[in-house]
Amino acid sequence: MQTATAHGATIPVIGFGTWNISGEHCARSVADAIKIGYRHIDTAAGYRNEDRVGEGVRASGVPREQLFITTKVASENLAEADFNRSVENSLRQLKVDQVDLLLIHWPSKVLPVAETIATLNAAKRKGWTKHIGVSNFTIKLLAEAWRATKEPIVTNQIEYHPYLTQENVVAAIRGHGMLLTAYSPLGRQVILDDPVIVDLARKKGRTPAQIVLRWDTQQAGVVTIPKSTNEVNIRANFDIFNFELSDAEMKALSALGARKQRIAGWPPAAPEWDP
Ligand code: A2P
Repeated sequence: MQTATAHGATIPVIGFGTWNISGEHCARSVADAIKIGYRHIDTAAGYRNEDRVGEGVRASGVPREQLFITTKVASENLAEADFNRSVENSLRQLKVDQVDLLLIHWPSKVLPVAETIATLNAAKRKGWTKHIGVSNFTIKLLAEAWRATKEPIVTNQIEYHPYLTQENVVAAIRGHGMLLTAYSPLGRQVILDDPVIVDLARKKGRTPAQIVLRWDTQQAGVVTIPKSTNEVNIRANFDIFNFELSDAEMKALSALGARKQRIAGWPPAAPEWDP
């Protein structure tokens, strides 16, 4: 299993995303993914599926210590008491003593970054998580977070795919020695009909999704969390470690980023995005 490491955290580069998957479907997909070989599962309190993710983990038969589980605290729960309640509830729902990575899901628009980062630090010290990170943080927020933190912030999870390559945020992430975790890596399917991606897929004898996920994981310091409820796709998305894209092919995909197209959408809690 290919991994990426930053600030002492080693994360499998392909994770299984679970946004918008719920109920039995969720438990089954998580169990399928783990049986196929995924060792990294991404959920969030806001997805309201942590109980089903936990069920899938247990049904997989793979020991907990072999898995990397991430969850997140929602932006409305970042005040200390709410934050702590949220994490305790996540652990209870997942039926685990500790997650591997705990993220602030969206930065707060009302609380200072220093305060929410201090609470995140405290969660690590309590043993609720092995590592801490953030999601949807801008360059300015990342700088503030690093000024405030005593513990390393190992990743910034952001929307990232060939139509949204976010060079400036990526440079800031790299500057802090962090990993980039790519959410909506398949652009919610919107990008999979792109002629450059489709042509490359034909040429390489792969699917468009495999081309995009290979592009992600061939970049140093990038972790990606495709989501699927279809076993065929779950399997295909993991089967990307036996071919390579050339430098020219990597560049052709990255060049699509000139579109700067956000596909995942964002809630009112979203910060003002970097250009
Ligand atoms: P499905 O659950 O039917 O596989 P993202 O991760 O960018 O948010 O994209 C998720 C969407 O992409 C889901 O609609 C999922 O549908 C679809 N998807 C996931 N894997 C593949 C794949 N290998 N080929 C085509 N579509 C895929």
